[in-house]
Parts: sequence; structure tokens; C-alpha cells
Amino acid sequence: MTPQLNARGDVAVLVPAAGAGLRLGPGGPKALRLLAGEPLLVHAIRRVAAAPSVRMIVVAAPAAEVGAVRDLLAPVAPVTVVAGGAERQESVSLALAAVPDEIAIVLVHDAARALTPPQLFESVAAAVRAGSPAVIPVLPVVDTIKEVGPASVTAPEGVAAEIVLGTVDRSVLRSVQTPQGFRHHVLAAAHAVAADALTDDAGLVEKAGLPVACVPGSELALKITRPLDLVLAEALLHVI
Ligand code: CTP
Ligand code: MG
Repeated sequence: MTPQLNARGDVAVLVPAAGAGLRLGPGGPKALRLLAGEPLLVHAIRRVAAAPSVRMIVVAAPAAEVGAVRDLLAPVAPVTVVAGGAERQESVSLALAAVPDEIAIVLVHDAARALTPPQLFESVAAAVRAGSPAVIPVLPVVDTIKEVGPASVTAPEGVAAEIVLGTVDRSVLRSVQTPQGFRHHVLAAAHAVAADALTDDAGLVEKAGLPVACVPGSELALKITRPLDLVLAEALLHVI
């Protein structure tokens, strides 16, 4: 039986899944690539649908795969599938257009973060419900981060001609994940005026001058981007 969503929930989750997955290498759109025998998108949607506050899920699929994605997800959860756009931001805008006004909170969640636990959707939604117009899950940065610039001396062949300009104070830096949560009207207004493409939705809200609050992220919410991430995700499935 298909799990039903909570008809009294106050959250819609937009799932941009229309990317090509170029950094993952050949093998078709990333959302449809297999992880332990099932498409990444199935892993992702199963976890979204298990979050108790979720009333609606909208997936932005690759334009050529809309029918196939509908069929794929029908047994997993009730999902609205729309055709995505050329850029992630456009895919999010197209998915947002399918959300009715009466849903107060909208979360945006990358299909590529396929192992994100249901609890993270709840903690982001709870922070929006508590009054933050925009909320992002974050993790501390583990590597030392350097600012670099072009070197004045010519580097040996094959070596980047860069020089260190300084070391950034890591304690004030955070890696940002999804789901990112918003009051519905805040996200709609941010997308309506968005001029240049950003890699996350909270960036649009920041540009509008509104505060963006942080909640603790999850290591399981890693973005599957490169081939090694797929290996790591498959290993994680055996221990979670
Ligand atoms: N995405 C989307 N529409 C696009 C581009 C990306 O819906 N035009 C989605 C991806 O499907 C993914 C999420 O946005 O779930 C984050 O993007 P990313 O990890 O960069 O995925 P891809 O764009 O597919 O990968 P790549 O950049 O390596 O091609
Ligand atoms: Mg991309």
C-alpha cells in the first residue's frame, strides 16, 4: 500500500531532481541512477514522505522523464511531478508554482541528498514554524580553508599557478545542506525577484535582506555529487 501523506500537515517539500548529474559521470540523470538497486529519487522520496508534517511533495523531473518518474514514484508516495528547467533555480520555481497558497511552509530538498533522515525535515519545519522566515541545516567545516590568488611566478607544468593569500577563520564557516525551509510567501517573493542563479534558495532570501536561521545538519544529508559519494552512500545504507 502506498503511504499517505498527512492531510493536516503544513509543509510542502519541493524536490529538484532535473539535473544531468554530469559530475557523477556517464549513466543518465542523477536522480534515476541506482543506489543499492533503487533510483536515488526513490530513496529520497521515501524519507521525505516519512516526515510527519509533510502534506505535499512536488518533484521537478528531467523534462523527458516526467511520465517515467510519475510511474516510478506512484508506489512510493503521493507526489506531484512537473518538468524541471535548465538551472536548479528554475526547477525550484516550476515546482513552487504547483503549491497551493494555503500551505504555509515550503521546504526545498535536493534529490541528490537521498539519505537525508526524516527528522531533519521536521527540525527545519519546526524552526520555520517557530518564526524564522528561512532556515538552513548546516555542519561545521572540517578542512582548513585558504584564500588563493594567481601566483606571479610561473609554476611547473601541471601545477596550478596559485599562491595562498590567507587562511580563513574556519570557526565562523558552515557547510550548507538541504532541506532549506521557508515561509511560503517568503520563498515565492524571493523567486519572483531572483535575477542571477544561485546554488541555494536561502541565498535568494539573504539577498532580500531577511534573516536566515541555522539548525544542525546531518552527515547523512551528504550531496551525492561525484562517483566516490555513490560508494559512500551505498556503504552508509548498510549501517543506517
Ligand atoms: N537540479 C534540477 N534542475 C537542474 C539542475 C539541478 O532540478 N536544472 C537538481 C538536481 O537534480 C539535484 C539538485 O538540483 O537534485 C542539486 O544539483 P546537483 O547536485 O548539482 O545535481 P546535477 O545538476 O544533476 O549534477 P551536476 O551539477 O554534476 O550535473
Ligand atoms: Mg548541478
